[in-house]
Amino acid sequence: MLPIDIVDIMEDEVSVAELLPLTPDELLSTTRAVRRRLDLSRPVPLAVIREALEVALQAPSGGNRQRWHWIVVTDPELKAQVASYYRRSHLAYRQAGAGPADAAAARVTASSDYLREVLAEVPVLVIGAISTGDAELSGNQAGLWGSLLPAAWSLALALRARGLGTTWTTLHLRYEREVAELLGLPADVRQGVLLPVAYTKGTDFRPGPRVDLDSVLHVNGW
Ligand SMILES: Cc1cc2nc3c(=O)[nH]c(=O)nc-3n(C[C@H](O)[C@H](O)[C@H](O)COP(=O)(O)O)c2cc1C
Repeated sequence: MLPIDIVDIMEDEVSVAELLPLTPDELLSTTRAVRRRLDLSRPVPLAVIREALEVALQAPSGGNRQRWHWIVVTDPELKAQVASYYRRSHLAYRQAGAGPADAAAARVTASSDYLREVLAEVPVLVIGAISTGDAELSGNQAGLWGSLLPAAWSLALALRARGLGTTWTTLHLRYEREVAELLGLPADVRQGVLLPVAYTKGTDFRPGPRVDLDSVLHVNGW
């Protein structure tokens, strides 16, 4: 048996992931919130995360300042602590909610409950964050978050293209300060998203339910 850190180094040297044969539109329309189909038992080489992040870093940011940061958490103890903050927040959110409106919503809720319970076992947690330079965060913050979130979504797409999956999550942000302290983030760095990443069980995903385009499309005014 090799010590874990040696295995990690060897895995890191393994380049690079094979890409699924998806058209751009298939990739964009089948990158789902994956929870139950995350493969918790298959290790994820850091090299694959790095490769997907290299793609993600091609996303735009305001003034091309690229003040994003990507905190990749693989340490079991740290993951467990992040997951326990997530769990607390998720349970509070569920208790405050009215309960699912229909069968489809009930499935999402059950899937979300499942992720809450297994979050610590997901091989990699990636937190997308952005350095604010201590700017006052008030008013419309589209410029700030628009300089982080496109790259985070690119990461989700690049992972899917490589046979991995994730779910966009924000519930741990109720404990943003605590998680920042746990992971040693500087005071001016704000977190925008937590992506639990694993290989998916199977790679066949279908487009999800969405509102009719005509109910949200406004041409030349509302
Ligand atoms: C801003 C945002 C926050 C979200 N937060 C959570 C979360 O904390 N936990 C979770 O399980 N899913 C979360 N989701 C995932 C949504 O439930 C999911 O994207 C939505 O149901 C669509 O899923 P689909 O693409 O598989 O149809 C979040 C999604 C977004 C965009």
